[in-house]
Amino acid sequence: MGATAGNPYLEGNFGPVAEELTTGELEVTGRLPEWLDGRYLRIGPNPLGAVNPETYHWFVGHGMAHGVRLRDGRAEWYRNRYVRSDAVAAALGEPARPGGVHAGFDFAANTNIVQHSGRTLALVEGGARPYELNETLDTVARCDFDGTLRGGYTAHPHMDPATGELHSISYFWAWGNRVRYDVIGTDGRVRRSTDITTHGRASIHDFALTENFVVILDLPVAFDTKRVASSVPPAMRPFAKATLAAVSRIALPPRVAAVLGGGADASGDSAGSTMGFPYSWDPSYPARVGLLPREGSNRDVQWYDVSPGYVFHVMNAYEEGDTIVCDVVRHPKMFATERRGPQEGVPTLDRWTIDRAAGKVIEDRLDSSGQEFPRIDERLTGRRHRYGYAVGVDPDSANCVIKHDLVAGDREVKRLGGAADLASEFVFVPSPHSVAEDDGVLMGFVYHADTDRSDLTLLDATSLETMASVHLPARVPQGFHGNWAPASV
Ligand SMILES: [Fe+2]
Repeated sequence: MGATAGNPYLEGNFGPVAEELTTGELEVTGRLPEWLDGRYLRIGPNPLGAVNPETYHWFVGHGMAHGVRLRDGRAEWYRNRYVRSDAVAAALGEPARPGGVHAGFDFAANTNIVQHSGRTLALVEGGARPYELNETLDTVARCDFDGTLRGGYTAHPHMDPATGELHSISYFWAWGNRVRYDVIGTDGRVRRSTDITTHGRASIHDFALTENFVVILDLPVAFDTKRVASSVPPAMRPFAKATLAAVSRIALPPRVAAVLGGGADASGDSAGSTMGFPYSWDPSYPARVGLLPREGSNRDVQWYDVSPGYVFHVMNAYEEGDTIVCDVVRHPKMFATERRGPQEGVPTLDRWTIDRAAGKVIEDRLDSSGQEFPRIDERLTGRRHRYGYAVGVDPDSANCVIKHDLVAGDREVKRLGGAADLASEFVFVPSPHSVAEDDGVLMGFVYHADTDRSDLTLLDATSLETMASVHLPARVPQGFHGNWAPASV
């Protein structure tokens, strides 16, 4: 795994793997449900080539996609492939993939991988465009949704189960204090796009969708002007400082933005940047959530104060009369002292009840144990959910999946290995014709330290019993998001 001079995000199972593998007919312990016909896809950072351990931030490593094809009760193949951003393609001696770059930003797509309108998309936020992959995870092209996307995209779109449309909030520091709400239709084209004014240049990783509202998280992790200005070459610093200080609320021309950077070096290679990550905790930034009516515009947004903290991920949100219930994993701070990854206290499962009539948010702690990567049965996105699933992140729970029963106020914990083993995000896949909310399968990667390999593990979502483990030929580094991509869509 390589020596790393003390950066935890380059060590152990956070460290990158070097080989791209293609392995057929994988060994399975237990029994794979025969109705599962599709690919389990997962993506994460996997820096190619040397990086500086002092400045390397987990969020900026080159993207690597992993996939397991399941069909007829068999695991047909495992593949892992670098996403061919321009920097990766050049390093591998390959031609650059087609498709326009937004504002010179070609970040490694490393954060989420989704299937929508016939495309498999590797996603990253902060200003870059997605990459389209093929069935076998080879990079096809940068994607601007047939020329309909204005600028970059997000890593966390949410699909409305009623319409199949993909909703998103995208941000880019050079847009000043505005973000963009997009709706992509089932034809794979943007059908609606509107700009929303935020307090400043926030990093907005996720949002929530209800039947009538878009819930926008305007929280105190913002583009760090001083840090970015100090990272540019000395001759440019006076220009950079003056420009960045002047534009905290206005947009920059794309060419200026590209010159000033923002996670990427001059070649657009984020992983090779000497700056690290350009967003940090800003104690002067007010923490608020906004409610945008789905068909509304910026002037219709209602903002509500919340206590300072940071939310990467919303479990789900739904409406109850005049209130919006929003379950989130809340971190007490983010990127205040730790510059290499998300590690600023225990992330807890909290409930925000946004009382529209009273104009305030009631905050409750549902579970004080450390957890992340919350998921639900996504047939209920924007509708009331009873169950939620997360992965433990406390020192003694990093090998655990947690099932929350939010009606009973209870939880079950499933331990998936020994003390040194690590679970990744688990996604819920409903059984065919299932009616009960937890009638389905949970699946995700588990790293086993004793063999230095990973399994794709499937759990019965009702009982949390292990159904099957697909044994992979290598380890899958700790990464970000995974999804089930059914073959029939
Ligand atoms: Fe995320």
